[in-house]
Amino acid sequence: MKIRKAIIPAAGYGTRLLPATKAMPKEMLPIIDKPTIQFIIEEAAASGIEEILIVTGKGKVIEDHFDSAHELEYFLEQKGKFEELRKVREFIGLADIHYIRQSERKGLGHAIHVGRKFIGGEPFAVLLGDNFFEAEPPALRQLIAGFDRFQTSILGVQTVAEDKVSRYGIVDAKPLIEDFAYVDQLIEKPPIGTIASRLAMVGRYILTPSIFDILENQPPGVGGEIQLTDALNRLLTREAVYTCEINGRWHDVGDPLGYLKAILAITGHCGNLKNDLQEEVNMLLQVDKDIPSSEQ
Ligand code: G1P
Repeated sequence: MKIRKAIIPAAGYGTRLLPATKAMPKEMLPIIDKPTIQFIIEEAAASGIEEILIVTGKGKVIEDHFDSAHELEYFLEQKGKFEELRKVREFIGLADIHYIRQSERKGLGHAIHVGRKFIGGEPFAVLLGDNFFEAEPPALRQLIAGFDRFQTSILGVQTVAEDKVSRYGIVDAKPLIEDFAYVDQLIEKPPIGTIASRLAMVGRYILTPSIFDILENQPPGVGGEIQLTDALNRLLTREAVYTCEINGRWHDVGDPLGYLKAILAITGHCGNLKNDLQEEVNMLLQVDKDIPSSEQ
């Protein structure tokens, strides 16, 4: 069966980036000049996804971004700003995008369950709205290739440093073949030192529709939230669940350091900007030393 549909949960409070995320979803924070969620839609489309459901929490800014902007386009045309015009048009219509509100923010598992009707009975993809990749083939396409081979749920993973395991869903898995492993158990945000594995889920999943029945009655877990990880733990008592080690650079932009690192990494692809930044950066990072504070 082909993976045609995807859910992008984008309804979190973005607490680690407040106050920037007070009125704006964190998925809209720009990586230089492109919102994070645009990278994700481009990845989904390049992986063969045709229909996307974005689960939103507030405002209409994501809808507006993926809609045509006739007034702006007319303005740019009149001013002869054709490069800018190309930039605002190039990503419109990459896939059919639908929206649904998660009216109660009960966690990631709940956000995915909100997409049950949209998905129907077919296997589908999930792309977390605050994780994106520099990868070729695109990260999701690597997972879909795994699904085509194994016809079962596949979780995207990468190895993280030991002091980072408490930030992620961690997977205990037995190596299977190439980049794939067989999942034994999963733990959401385990305290450091309580688990040997450092294999973290990186926000890309292919799931069979059996997950919906499980999510339906999934009790809250870590942080009082309905956790996808807990539901996956129950899924693997019914069906095999595999991991796929994603080849590529992963960016988790949900916290200030990850966000800054993503911006710097993408700057690396922007010729002039990169050179200018290299000259400036040492000076900028010394700002505390050079500028006397008012208390001194
Ligand atoms: C979520 C998932 C977690 C995963 C992480 C990836 O956590 O619950 O399993 O490892 O995304 O970024 P969150 O970042 O929403 O706390």
